[in-house]
Amino acid sequence: MKNNSIVTPASQNQAIYESANIIKYYEQINDLQPAEQMILDRLSAHLPTMKMLDIGVGAGRTTQYFCDRTAHYIGIDYSPEMINACKQRFPETVKRQFQVCDARDLHCFEDQQFDFILFSFNGIDYVDHVDRLTILKEIHRVSKPGGIFCFSSHNLQSFERTFSFKSQWSWNPIVTYTNLVVTGILRLLNRPMNLAEIKNSSYKIVKDESHNFRLNTYYIRPLEQIDQLSQHFKDIQIYSWKNDIELVSQADRLANIDQWIYYYCTSFIQGPDD
Ligand SMILES: C[S@@+](CC[C@H](N)C(=O)[O-])C[C@H]1O[C@@H](n2cnc3c(N)ncnc32)[C@H](O)[C@@H]1O
Repeated sequence: MKNNSIVTPASQNQAIYESANIIKYYEQINDLQPAEQMILDRLSAHLPTMKMLDIGVGAGRTTQYFCDRTAHYIGIDYSPEMINACKQRFPETVKRQFQVCDARDLHCFEDQQFDFILFSFNGIDYVDHVDRLTILKEIHRVSKPGGIFCFSSHNLQSFERTFSFKSQWSWNPIVTYTNLVVTGILRLLNRPMNLAEIKNSSYKIVKDESHNFRLNTYYIRPLEQIDQLSQHFKDIQIYSWKNDIELVSQADRLANIDQWIYYYCTSFIQGPDD
């Protein structure tokens, strides 16, 4: 942990993203997720004129797909080690840059300069609630009006299911056993949280299985996420990370239990009548 600053769940997360074994893990993942591929295909005609900000770029998994297709690509991460990994993999040029920068404070960027902002693979989920709202505000500030913002976030509906012993039964006894063990560990690590509390919450910060249960991760219900976004973004579309099928109806959104969801929306400036 840096300096003598107070240790918070968010600062614990940051320390994890600076550790050597985690950098190595992100250096080894290369594929786009199905929803990301759909977004790339959909934007491909526009990318050559777009200035893109890739937030929480990690070791550059998305860089390889976007940097040569966009007019100007900037990747940022609050982990200096992640940024070093990017610079080694993708040497900087006039139109491809990397910077250590925290999404909670994008002061190094002027207002309304990006056409496309990506915060992929749930990177927004590693800060607390107030900081998450600050990030959304900052992203809106640096987006051009009409600019696209795309990100994914963990789905509390999925966590609710994983947290329930009753939902773990399968015809396959090995699957049942494995599921029950995971639920037991989650319950232990997230004490004194209980199922009723999760059912009654629109978001929660929890320890899940990622990176060996070390991260503190924000999970949110899709309808609540849409609400958070709607102050600054319009035309909000949502997709499971697993495919390119949009979840359109309220019923589909409420029923979805995929672990994370992609959100695709457009930045707008509120007029006096909005
Ligand atoms: C789950 S990893 C994903 C990395 C990369 N986007 C990928 O898909 O492979 C999340 C990344 O977001 C970064 N991150 C988390 N919170 C951040 C913040 N507040 N500002 C900038 N980067 C952040 C972490 O350092 C980490 O590299």
